[in-house]
Amino acid sequence: MALERTLSIIKPDATRRNITGVINTKLEEAGLRIVAQKRIRMSRQMAETFYDVHRERPFFNNLVAFMTSGAVVVQILEGENAITRNREVMGATNPENADEGTIRKLYAESIESNSVHGSDALDTAATEIAYFFSDAEIHA
Ligand code: CMP
Repeated sequence: MALERTLSIIKPDATRRNITGVINTKLEEAGLRIVAQKRIRMSRQMAETFYDVHRERPFFNNLVAFMTSGAVVVQILEGENAITRNREVMGATNPENADEGTIRKLYAESIESNSVHGSDALDTAATEIAYFFSDAEIHA
């Protein structure tokens, strides 16, 4: 077992519906500790850079438009195997494929409007955390 940190984003569909609290409760019940958190509005440039790996995908422009359409809550989650644990509690990217009880099964509206983002590996978690947070903003 390894103590890890992962980057989580509560997306505009969820902030719009005022369900950031219930999502945080699901994360905490899964054994994840929110060690940093802030509510921001991403600029187009921030979203494009954050999702640069998807730049050539057909859904890229819609994804950037969606992620800049309202407030997001960016957060760092810490825990044993936090990356996998977070991906389990989030559920599959497409809510139609997500397991019962997962955040996306319960709350996501579509594959785009899917309520949460979570880093997919240790290296991307480190990059994504550094993109949004300085060390001074992280308090375990
Ligand atoms: P996320 O984990 O934030 O990473 C990239 C996002 O792109 C993903 O969640 C989805 O919300 C979105 N996405 C992935 N595939 C598609 C798709 N086929 N159509 C629209 N959006 C997608």
